[in-house]
Amino acid sequence: MKLFAIQGLKILATGSAVPDSTLSNHQLSEIVQTSDEWIVTRTGIKERRLLTGSNRSVIDLATEASLKALSKISMSPLEIDLIILATSTPNDLFGSASQIQAKIKAAKAVAFDLTAACSGFVLSFVTAGQFLQSGSYKTILVIGADVLSKWIDWSDRSTCILFGDGAGAIILQSCSIKDNQFLGFQLNTDGRQYKNLSLPYIDDSDPHTFLNIHQGSFNYIAMNGKEIYKFAVSQVPLSIIKCLTSLHMTVDEIDWLLLHQANERILTAIAEKLSLSTDKILVNVGRYGNTSAASIPLVLDESNEYGKISNNDVIVISGFGAGLTWGTVVIRWKR
Ligand code: UT7
Repeated sequence: MKLFAIQGLKILATGSAVPDSTLSNHQLSEIVQTSDEWIVTRTGIKERRLLTGSNRSVIDLATEASLKALSKISMSPLEIDLIILATSTPNDLFGSASQIQAKIKAAKAVAFDLTAACSGFVLSFVTAGQFLQSGSYKTILVIGADVLSKWIDWSDRSTCILFGDGAGAIILQSCSIKDNQFLGFQLNTDGRQYKNLSLPYIDDSDPHTFLNIHQGSFNYIAMNGKEIYKFAVSQVPLSIIKCLTSLHMTVDEIDWLLLHQANERILTAIAEKLSLSTDKILVNVGRYGNTSAASIPLVLDESNEYGKISNNDVIVISGFGAGLTWGTVVIRWKR
């Protein structure tokens, strides 16, 4: 997608947070019939972090990640104009972003949630980009955070082995066009396939006697793993190629491939489809599992901290998941 920008966008800081509690594959094999060998071979996941304890929610992780990002650049939270929280696991169906705004004391910021499951961070980054590049806002905090552990059927071995909890945050600011780091994007949705990965609401009570209103609750994550696998491996490379082509760029110009951390086999298969060396994949799914909207900013923060990414590196970021929704963002890293 061509960007119509009167301003550029620069990345000022990243931060992340994961719960302390670790669940290994061995521990999981005591809950469901599975094995470390099966999980590692099929997914590359060795362990994941889970938010344990009562009254802890996505807010705790998102707040910690945001405060870490702010402290890295000694920025006052009062400088933030907008907070976008990508999450599918809010602690309030009306949204959780406003509670984060209050917790980090970003009193001048507008705050809202954006729900797009594992593509949430990509969609939030693009949304933030529109506000910054049009000149509407100067400084935006984008957070990807999820606690899918609260919505997993822990007796279903086909899903409970995959997911973990976490949060990642990034602070973006408008800048001159010549310093712009957000090169382009490409987004897609196919609602016909929504049933392949969903967390459905189900009417499970008798209707109200007079009003005939049915009420219910949300169920557990339901997934057709094979279909999601095929979808990711076929559609994500196409999105990346479309995005690069629109920018008159080629795969050879990619320094790092930062994909939603769903499954290491999916990441490798996508790189292979692009004829890209697997050395260029940024990966941490082995330690955290699939953290949904958090996975991309979590890897970005780690790679930034470890000094893995260098000045001027081109990073191709792709998210994919429930909706089904998928998309790509291309950025140029500046130190
Ligand atoms: O953000 C996007 C989120 N979703 C994903 O990324 C999911 C993408 N899909 C996948 O990653 C893979 O499809 C899975 C890892 C979920 C499953 O791998 P698979 O190679 O597609 O396995 P499968 O579902 O075809 O199952 C193969 C066998 C079955 O047994 P039978 O029917 O061959 O006897 C399953 O019952 O493996 C069995 N199985 C397990 N065995 C041990 C399924 N889950 C497990 C398990 N441990 N946890």
